[in-house]
Amino acid sequence: MIADWTRKHLLGLEELSAREIGIILDAADDMAKLDPNATSTELKGRTVANLFFEPSTRTRNSFGLAARRLGAATLDFTSSGSSVSKGEAFIDTAKNIEAMGVDVMVVRHTSPGSPHLLAKHLRASVINAGDGPHEHPTQGLLDIFTIRRHKGRVEGLTVGLIGDILHSRVARSNIHGLIKLGAKVIVCGPSTLVPRELKLWGVEVAYDFDDILPHCDVINLLRIQFERQRTGLFPSIREYAFLFGMTGERMRRARPDLLILAPGPINRGVEVTPEVADGIHSAILEQVANGLAIRMALLKLLCGV
Ligand code: CP
Repeated sequence: MIADWTRKHLLGLEELSAREIGIILDAADDMAKLDPNATSTELKGRTVANLFFEPSTRTRNSFGLAARRLGAATLDFTSSGSSVSKGEAFIDTAKNIEAMGVDVMVVRHTSPGSPHLLAKHLRASVINAGDGPHEHPTQGLLDIFTIRRHKGRVEGLTVGLIGDILHSRVARSNIHGLIKLGAKVIVCGPSTLVPRELKLWGVEVAYDFDDILPHCDVINLLRIQFERQRTGLFPSIREYAFLFGMTGERMRRARPDLLILAPGPINRGVEVTPEVADGIHSAILEQVANGLAIRMALLKLLCGV
């Protein structure tokens, strides 16, 4: 029940219980039923600020739209073109934005732990919109929400996370959330990008996509995060696509009801071919729509509405 929600911040899925994740998913189910053309006044008088120090298309616009659909005022800060270029510190930037009367601060930053720092020093609720390679909890939630809507459950499913697990905050949030809800998670990719230690998290670690493919109910295709790699961790993009790319040929060897997810942005022809990305098994754009429902639900929960 929504009344059972007690948290002020959403910093990661690692700290949430299965029950808390369930409350968010159920609230998002209600949000998804709303008429997208109708604006509610539930967050009238509240202000939601985006504080983005890394690029974003989906998350930033989705939070802005979610806040406006609930009647909140929005404030959109991106570091490019800001006084960060004059040397203003992260914490001072956040405190100055908060001083404009912000109730919820949505933060994305390259440094793991940045939202946790703000949660200690701000009065506002803080939502982690991606902190370096650490966590991206709303992406994890919308992925799990999409799985639940398609499959009717999460418990007992086998979910393959394919690609650059090492640098992926989406992988970490997916692993925490899916395992708490009783799914089996297999991580798979080049050995340089899939840490063996993830076995300690209760995850199966694999390096051969074709071996695990027939066992998966869901495949989540993670982008190679070139921006977070300092050295070449696999021989070539062509070889990566051959070994780990989701192709029409691989689809024919998968379960007939396989669900294809990708957090976006996707690299067509690398982790997924256009025929799969745009095919009937793909829920990639549906994930984006579901992200709006998840973010509306979270804003309501954190504002105590
Ligand atoms: N999936 C995701 O976080 O996309 P953006 O980087 O565009 O927000």
